[in-house]
Amino acid sequence: MSDNLVTITVDEQKITAPAGAFLLPVCLENDIYIPHLCFLEGMDDPPASCRLCLVEIAGESGPVASCRYRVREGLEVKTNSDEILRLRQLAFRLLVSTNDGSCRTCIANHSCDLQKIAKYLHQPLKTKRLRHIDRDYPALIDNHPFLVYEPKKCVLCGRCVYVCGQLEKGYKLDFAQRGMDSIVSLFGSELDPASLECETCLACAGVCPVGAMSSKKKWRSFIAELGLN
Ligand code: SF4
Ligand code: SF4
Ligand code: FES
Repeated sequence: MSDNLVTITVDEQKITAPAGAFLLPVCLENDIYIPHLCFLEGMDDPPASCRLCLVEIAGESGPVASCRYRVREGLEVKTNSDEILRLRQLAFRLLVSTNDGSCRTCIANHSCDLQKIAKYLHQPLKTKRLRHIDRDYPALIDNHPFLVYEPKKCVLCGRCVYVCGQLEKGYKLDFAQRGMDSIVSLFGSELDPASLECETCLACAGVCPVGAMSSKKKWRSFIAELGLN
């Protein structure tokens, strides 16, 4: 075996992976699904903020976020214990406690990661077990020439901020406020020439796992199809 490859065991399945790779993508590449929202392939320093990707590792004192845990020889991983399911369900309920989206009128309906994870975790998208937190934000921010942002659908995963920051002329997005009050702020409005660079990019809309950040053009045609414009 090459020095750079290690063998690990995930749910009793033996897997070979590059030493030091993050555990989450290794599992996904081997058809072991682990729910995740904040991780994106290529991240050097994943934020591990959504807490959906928790797993158990033999020898660790508690569950760990698989998206920032590096594989090493002999690792023994459990992804599907009752305790892990309970913790992921709790993390999911916290995420959707601020979510106010209506799937029927959402551009991501049927392609949304939140819908997929809700099904996987057997959880409703509208939680009854936690008090709903109503964030005092507008339903729609559309003063950008090419993007539309719907704060009430945003799960604050940070993917859009990350991909924009990776671009040569990026950093047009950032988080404003903190904690539950966070919101993605779009620097650059219709009046700002910097926002014109977004026309040929739209990378942030492409990585949004829900329907919160969209291309304005696509969003307008979707709304027209629904007859809501
Ligand atoms: S379109 Fe591209 S440059 Fe503009 S905010 Fe999104 S990621 Fe950043
Ligand atoms: S707009 Fe989308 S990608 Fe950006 S933080 Fe919100 S949910 Fe994540
Ligand atoms: S994907 Fe690991 S904490 Fe979000």
